[in-house]
Amino acid sequence: MRIDIITVLPELLESPLSHSIMKRAQSKGLLEVYTHPLRQWAVNDYGQIDDYQYGGGAGMVMMCEPLARALDALMAERTYEEVIYLTPDGETLNQKTANRLSLRENLILICGHYKGIDERIREHYVTRELSIGDYVLSGGELAAAVLVDAIGRLLPGVLNDETSALFDSFQDGLLAPPVYTRPADFRGWTVPEVLLSGDPRKVEEWRYEQALERTRLRRPDLLAGE
Ligand code: 6GU
Repeated sequence: MRIDIITVLPELLESPLSHSIMKRAQSKGLLEVYTHPLRQWAVNDYGQIDDYQYGGGAGMVMMCEPLARALDALMAERTYEEVIYLTPDGETLNQKTANRLSLRENLILICGHYKGIDERIREHYVTRELSIGDYVLSGGELAAAVLVDAIGRLLPGVLNDETSALFDSFQDGLLAPPVYTRPADFRGWTVPEVLLSGDPRKVEEWRYEQALERTRLRRPDLLAGE
């Protein structure tokens, strides 16, 4: 899978994508991520990429021309299934969307800044708009890093048995059950007996019940559809 990210702040994306599982995905050749500084397509020698908004009002808007040039340059090289704009007014990202996007081959992500991007780019290039939750970030970069992580870890071969995505919270529509490791008694706080029983059927049953109970208590909305 290849992900191209158009951004005014490529530095902000470097660290989150170069450690741990994202690092492994890339070094294994399963995921390629390229960041493209938008200023290289600026409209003048000052590197201008934003301008005042028509109709007045505070805040700058990212101009059509640099974004269109960036998108045209990428789209001339290969076919992209999706051009995704990260924006707080987009559809909220969830596991189902991450699962779907992990099946694509080439994606473009656009990180918004300031008041956002000119509406005409949204109309003519963008195929999907995503938000990562109901709060406002200073720009789309951190949201893009979240999206790449959520997608990247799902690519076949990225995770091993130890880190398997199959039993993640949300993957089966439930939150994950509690987990414990040694020692069995820490300050008198003990591990549930069943986990020490050595009976895999009982353990499985307990985990399922705990997952269900936790979901009922914390996220009843996840169960509402059943
Ligand atoms: Cl995608 N962008 C910004 N700027 N803020 C957000 C967001 C995206 N998702 C939640 N908040």
